[in-house]
Amino acid sequence: MPDTLLLDAPEAGVRLITLNRPAALNALNTQLLGELAALLDELEADDGCRAVVLTGSQKAFAAGADINEMAERDAVGILNDPRVAHWQRIGRFPKPLIAAVNGFALGGGCELAMQADIIIAGEGARFGQPEINLGIMPGAGGTQRLLRAVGKAMAMQMVLTGEAIDARHAQRLGLVSEVTQPEFTVERALAIGRVIASKAPLAVRLAKEALLKAMDCDLATGLRLERHAFTVLAASRDRAEGIRAFQEKRAPVFTGN
Ligand code: CAA
Repeated sequence: MPDTLLLDAPEAGVRLITLNRPAALNALNTQLLGELAALLDELEADDGCRAVVLTGSQKAFAAGADINEMAERDAVGILNDPRVAHWQRIGRFPKPLIAAVNGFALGGGCELAMQADIIIAGEGARFGQPEINLGIMPGAGGTQRLLRAVGKAMAMQMVLTGEAIDARHAQRLGLVSEVTQPEFTVERALAIGRVIASKAPLAVRLAKEALLKAMDCDLATGLRLERHAFTVLAASRDRAEGIRAFQEKRAPVFTGN
C-alpha cells in the first residue's frame, strides 16, 4: 500500500483515493506522484473499478509541487525529472476520474485537479497557479489545460498574477461542474461515480476519449474519431443489451463486453 495515499472502495465499482501528506498540505512530491500513477495503473487493470474519485483533506486538495524538493533540482535535474513520466501516466488513465476538491488546489494541485474529468468543489475551495510568486511558471499543464478550461483572459490573469479564485468563480468559468458544502464534496463525487459505474464501461471509456480529444484536435478530426468510436461500440454486447433493455422496459445489465 502506498505511503502517501489512502485507498477505499466505498461503493460498488467506485474507488476513492485520498492524498495523504497532511503535514505538507498534500504537496505533490515525487513519491506521491509515483504512487498515484502506479495505483491508477492497478485500477485500470481492475475490472471491479469503473470510476475513481480523487480527494485531499478539508484544508488542501494539494498545495502544489513540493517546493522543498523542487529547490534541490537544477535545470538538468528538471530535464530528467521522473515526475514528468508520472504526470503522463496519470493523464493516460482511461477510466473516469472525478476530483473532489476542498481547500487549496494550487500550482500542481490545480493541475492535478485539471487532470480529472470532472471537478466537484466544496465552498471554500481555492484554485490557483501561484508559481509566478516563486519566479517560475506552471510546469504540469497549468498553462495548457487551464486556458482550455477557463479561456485566455482568465488563464492569463490567474497565471500572471498568481491570484487564486474561489469555487463559485471556478464553477462560473466551467472549471468546476458543481459546488457543494465542504462536508458533502466527496459524497457528491462518489454519487456521480456510482452513476457512471452503472453505465456500459466500453461506452464510458470511448466517450471519455472522444471528449478529451475535442480539446486538442480540429473539429473534422474530432468528428471522425467520434464516428469511429460510435461504430466500434455497435460491435459491443452492452450496446445490444442497452437497446434490448429499453425495448423490454427493464434496467440494462452491462458486463463490459
Ligand atoms: N511544498 C512543500 N511544502 C508545502 C507546500 C508546498 N507546495 N505548501 C505548503 N507546504 C507546507 C508548509 O511549508 C508548512 O510546513 P511546515 O509546517 O513544516 O512549515 C505546511 O505545509 C503548512 O503550510 P502553511 O503553514 O504555509 O499553511 P498556511 O495555511 O499558512 O498557508 C498556503 C497555506 C497558502 C497554501 C501556503 O502553504 C502556500 O502558499 N503554499 C505554497 C503554494 C504554492 O506556491 N504552490 C505552487 C508550488 S510550485 C508548483 O506547483 C509547480 C508546478 O506547477 C509543477
